[in-house]
Amino acid sequence: MTFASVVPHHIAIVMDGNGRWASKRFLPRLVGHKKGVDSLRRCAKACESRGVGVLTVFAFSSENWNRPAEEVSGLMNLFAVALGREVPELNADGVRLCFVGERANLSKKVIEGIEQAESATAGNSRLILNVCFNYGGRWDIVQAVAKLADLGQPATEQNLNNAMALAHVPDPDLVIRTGGEQRISNFLLWQSAYSEFFFSDHLWPDFDETALDQAITAFSQRERRFGKTSDQLVAQANNPPLV
Ligand code: FPP
Repeated sequence: MTFASVVPHHIAIVMDGNGRWASKRFLPRLVGHKKGVDSLRRCAKACESRGVGVLTVFAFSSENWNRPAEEVSGLMNLFAVALGREVPELNADGVRLCFVGERANLSKKVIEGIEQAESATAGNSRLILNVCFNYGGRWDIVQAVAKLADLGQPATEQNLNNAMALAHVPDPDLVIRTGGEQRISNFLLWQSAYSEFFFSDHLWPDFDETALDQAITAFSQRERRFGKTSDQLVAQANNPPLV
């Protein structure tokens, strides 16, 4: 059997469980989301130190607008505040921030925060941190198809790939979902076609370095066949193509 290379180049995470983390402690859900920001900072640092090149996280989905108004405005506010507070340290750590999602219906404050964070960190390359905000996998496919129509390009796999919101990075090798649920919830529908999945029972604020290492270890024991057979992969490993 041919194992995946040990450390995934691109990890994507559905950071689920903030609300339950807070409810278990009789705290408002927003406290769980604040803890979620701490967990994200810790996870980004851990990814960097393990040689992961790209981390993509699901911070606010197209469907999260349907939550109670108080939670939506709390999340928007937390996002704007967290951006201002976190960017200097992320920048010092060599992290390049990219925001992926529909910006049209975001507030001016949030859009300014996003633009400042992207321009402040544009020159960094140790870790690309894609924050999916007001994002949905279906939205991404639809906007890519619309882009191709505007450009008059045929809908080939390559053209669509180039028009997707994550065209600046390779597809995720490993998709992690915390919080015990086992579904994709409109996250990277196109890009996760050949990703390995890992479901963790940890609520997102509790997802620490040990939990990340468990996911990476599980990944390293998977055989990624990309539609081929095991025997083909063994033959390929024994006779690598001459470059
Ligand atoms: C899902 O947990 C989590 C979210 C909808 C928000 C995640 C956002 C953050 C961690 C903050 C990101 C901030 C920045 C600056 C990138 P849930 O509320 O669905 O939890 P539950 O399933 O327990 O209710």
